[in-house]
Amino acid sequence: MNNMGEKKILYENVSMLQKVIEKIIIPLIIKTKIGLWLFTKISHHGALIKENAGSYKSLDIIYSYKRQDTKGENFWSRFYTHLLLNFINAKAVRNRKLVIEKELKKIISSIEKKEINIASLGAGSGEAIIQAMQEFNGNGKIIKSVLVDLSEDALDYSRKLAFNADVVNSMEWICGDLRTFIKNGRKGNFQIVEMAGIGDYFEDKTLQKLILSIYKFLPPGGSFISCNVAPNIEKTFLDKILNWKMVYRSKKELEEIMEQTEFDFKVFPEPLGVHYIIVAQKPNNP
Ligand SMILES: C[S@@+](CC[C@H](N)C(=O)[O-])C[C@H]1O[C@@H](n2cnc3c(N)ncnc32)[C@H](O)[C@@H]1O
Repeated sequence: MNNMGEKKILYENVSMLQKVIEKIIIPLIIKTKIGLWLFTKISHHGALIKENAGSYKSLDIIYSYKRQDTKGENFWSRFYTHLLLNFINAKAVRNRKLVIEKELKKIISSIEKKEINIASLGAGSGEAIIQAMQEFNGNGKIIKSVLVDLSEDALDYSRKLAFNADVVNSMEWICGDLRTFIKNGRKGNFQIVEMAGIGDYFEDKTLQKLILSIYKFLPPGGSFISCNVAPNIEKTFLDKILNWKMVYRSKKELEEIMEQTEFDFKVFPEPLGVHYIIVAQKPNNP
């Protein structure tokens, strides 16, 4: 706990040595194709991540990884899995989840209403939302959420997490396209819209249009939390070895996209600088 009574968040770090080693090794393992073999053939988890790149499954493997998960596998599978799940991007995406959860909690605390409704777009497992709800429910606030995702599997998994966290009765799951939900769904009813790990897959025009429709969807004073992967030294590794293709954006590019709306916003990096977090609020008198 810090002196404000808040729990200290343990973000993951990367040493200078790791950065230097990766800068030298990554181009070599890509050129020789050895990386493909080590990280997606020898490493059982690496093969699963590649097979499910960009889905909730790959993220869940990264979010929940513990050394003992690979118990029973051979030494080299365990070794390369451990390396892969401690790559800068793996640490950064876990940091991203922690920052989003923290920002969600900050916004929830700042809203004076007793009942708060959150929409999570491309929710996947919905872990950050579930954690935030768990903290507030029964604590003087009623937090409800709707999770929208194209994948029924992701939503099923999220239901299990919600059940274990005892927030299942305050949640709703919708299987479908998030753009249809924004177009048709309960405009003005959600004080918070969260959308993580989605902008990274949309081209600029599509993302701009989507953010503008979220702006219109929110009531005055409503909040939007999102993020985007930033250019970083592992990009070619993700592209070529894991076949995990994303749209990498700089802070300036994200700011330009956000400036198309009237959101008051800030864009800032998670501690490793691999993801930018966007926290935005629709003005009270737009
Ligand atoms: C990278 S995951 C992110 C999951 C979660 N938000 C997180 O940060 O852990 C992307 C999720 O978005 C979903 N998705 C992708 N395109 C979508 C769309 N057009 N409408 C709804 N869900 C979508 C995928 O099924 C997947 O579960």
